[in-house]
Amino acid sequence: MSVFSEGLRKKIDHYLTRYETRRSAILPVLHCIQDEHGWIKPEHIEELHSKYELDRVQVKEVITFYDIYKDKPTRKFLIRYCQNITCTMLGAKEAICRIEDHIKKLEAELGDDTPFGLEKFPCLGKCDGAPVMLVNKERVEHATVDKIDGLLSKYAPLPK
Ligand code: FES
Repeated sequence: MSVFSEGLRKKIDHYLTRYETRRSAILPVLHCIQDEHGWIKPEHIEELHSKYELDRVQVKEVITFYDIYKDKPTRKFLIRYCQNITCTMLGAKEAICRIEDHIKKLEAELGDDTPFGLEKFPCLGKCDGAPVMLVNKERVEHATVDKIDGLLSKYAPLPK
């Protein structure tokens, strides 16, 4: 019995045969697992080790080195907001404050069921669309403070 779905096993097999060494496939394999499960669970690491011969220490090293990989459950919508210079000059601080306010209010109402999480991020690589945020994998450009309420309410209801 596998902890991975059939579709996920096919993707893992694909990446393991695509690269010259198994170790080279760790990053795309982890992306696939996180896309399907939201985070990398200990049992995922164990199965990567036992069935796919990926070294568990190397897998854990990759997960802990890159912020993008999560080894704990995340909220339904993880917002990564760029706080690098271009985005900051074009209003990132104000927009981040607005998001933080919404999250605080939601946490007061919903506790752990709050749908949004926030991470401040270095450059997201789309400076010409500054200020920029990612909501899970969707990039949102020109995410200025005046647009935050409308943008977030597309994903989940906001507190009044
Ligand atoms: S500075 Fe924000 S995307 Fe580059």
